[in-house]
Parts: sequence; structure tokens; C-alpha cells
Amino acid sequence: MIDDDAQVRHSLARVIEAHGLGTIEAASGAEALAILERQGEMPLVISDIYMPEMDGVTFLREALQRYPDMAIVMLTGVAEVTTAVECLKLGALDYISKPVLVEEVRARVDKALEKRALVLQNRFYQQHLESRVRELDRRNKQSLINGVQMLVHALEAKDAYTSGHSSRVSRYAVKTAVQLGYTADRLEQIRLGGELHDIGKIGTREAVLNKPGPLSADEFHHIKGHTALGERILAPFMSESPMVLRIVRSHHERLDGAGFPDGLTGTQIPAEARIVAVVDAFDAMTTNRAYRASRTPEDAMQELQRCVGTHFDPDVVNAFTRAFPDPAALPISI
Ligand SMILES: [Fe+2]
Repeated sequence: MIDDDAQVRHSLARVIEAHGLGTIEAASGAEALAILERQGEMPLVISDIYMPEMDGVTFLREALQRYPDMAIVMLTGVAEVTTAVECLKLGALDYISKPVLVEEVRARVDKALEKRALVLQNRFYQQHLESRVRELDRRNKQSLINGVQMLVHALEAKDAYTSGHSSRVSRYAVKTAVQLGYTADRLEQIRLGGELHDIGKIGTREAVLNKPGPLSADEFHHIKGHTALGERILAPFMSESPMVLRIVRSHHERLDGAGFPDGLTGTQIPAEARIVAVVDAFDAMTTNRAYRASRTPEDAMQELQRCVGTHFDPDVVNAFTRAFPDPAALPISI
């Protein structure tokens, strides 16, 4: 109860006390703020508008800044209706006109307390809902990661040479992407895309996957299918990660259009797929495969440079070289 006029203040306080509520009185906005500071937020404040030291409008602003949910009702003279309306705009809950009528005070106080209870209830539900949504989101992400790991393990069980390949490609791709300015969610999609780029090989026959000699035209056609198949497998649960799907589908495209599955050229090939194409080729060259022994990292780097412009994006090859300047430290161990 804030009013510089002690008489008004006391009589209003008596009315409110008779209504069953406790009151604290203050003679100015500054005094009221000091009391709030000491005692914490109060359910309801009734404040006069014109007071020396700190007027009601300033008090209203300051108090709502500190206690946004506090119910504040302004006390106004008949001539102050415009100011009272201003106060409502600033967040006051209501106003009571002077001279004060006992019945009116009771009704306004009840209404203000009811409104505040509703505000608090809403705030509670909102906060509760937000944390629930966050928790569900976290769980969704976790089950997505579990699903991804399951798929990668399934593929690695089938193709011994992919074991470690996906993880290395993922790590090479991420460090290269960092050089190219990727951050946050886009970087995370690169990581996931690297991990999953060959997932479609789950559908490739083992005899073809592990064939020691050169592939026939039919077998090559069959193995090429892992790109589009991988995209189909992942599409239902990767709707929020379109970059992952693009990596899986397009990591065998070549700048000159001689790649697969779509024969895209240059910048038609998604940038993220151009990154994975380079690091995938590097890892394939520097690890043993069923059909050949590995090359040295220096040799593989030279091969990448030789194929810049025809097969590989020059910016990506540069970024990869910057990300891993010392070939002697390659391949990275997982
Ligand atoms: Fe592949």
C-alpha cells in the first residue's frame, strides 16, 4: 500500500485488512522498492500515482522490471485517468479511482489476486511444457544417434573394410569443413553424413563388396546403387538433416559429371557431398581394400591434387590439406 497521504494509506490498509489480507505501508515508490528488496515479491501492490521522491509511474516501471509477475493496481484521482491508462499500458493490472469506495476496493483486490494466480499458473505450465519439450527433443536425438550407430555396426559387420572407414571419413570431413567455415548444426550434419555416407552398402551383395579382383559392369552397377539406396534408408528419419541425405546420395559425384548416381557437374553437386567425396577417396586410398593394398598418405595427397578440377573441388582439397598439413600423421587412428 503506497501513498504519501498517510490518511488515505491507513484507511485503505484497514479496508484490505478487514478483507482478510495483511498489509505493509510505504509513503513513496522508493520506500516501497526498498521494502520489496528486503521482503521479496508481494502478491499485490496498490500505489498512488502522484507522490514526492518517486512517483507511482516510476515505481511501476522499476517494480515490474524486477518482479514481472507482481500485481500492481494504481490509485488515481478523477483527473488522472489518462495517466492511469498509461499505467495499464506499462503493465499495471488495474486502477482504483479516488475517492475510494470500500466495496470497489474489495472487488478490485479480489480480481487482481485472481489475475495474478492465473498468470503464475500459466507461467508454471509454460515452463513445465518447455522443459518437457526439451527432454523429448533430447531423447529423440539420442534414439536417432542409437539408430545411426546400429546401422553403422550392421554395415561394418558385413564389410570388414568399412570398419573404421566411416569414422575416419567423418573426422576428416569435419576438420575440412571447419576450414571451410562450417559451424554448429551444419558441422554436425557433416559429421553424421560422414558416418553414414556408405550406409546403402547394407544392400550390396557381400560377394561384390569383398571381391578381390576387378568388378564386372553388372557388379559395378550393383555397387553404385548404395548411394540412392542409402538415401532411401535414411530419408524417413533424417527429415531435419537434409545435408546428411545429400552427402549419402552424392558423395560419388565428380566435378566433370562422370560420377554417380546423377552425373551432376561442378556446383550442382551439393557442397557437403564435395567435401565427403575428397576425404572418402583419401581414406579409401590410404587403407587396404579387398582389391588392393594401401598407398602412402603423401601419394594419396598427390593423387587428390592430380584430380582437382576433374574429380575433386579445388577448395575442398585445399581445405583438407590445411586441416591435415602433416601426411606423416595420417591416416588418423580411431
Ligand atoms: Fe560410397
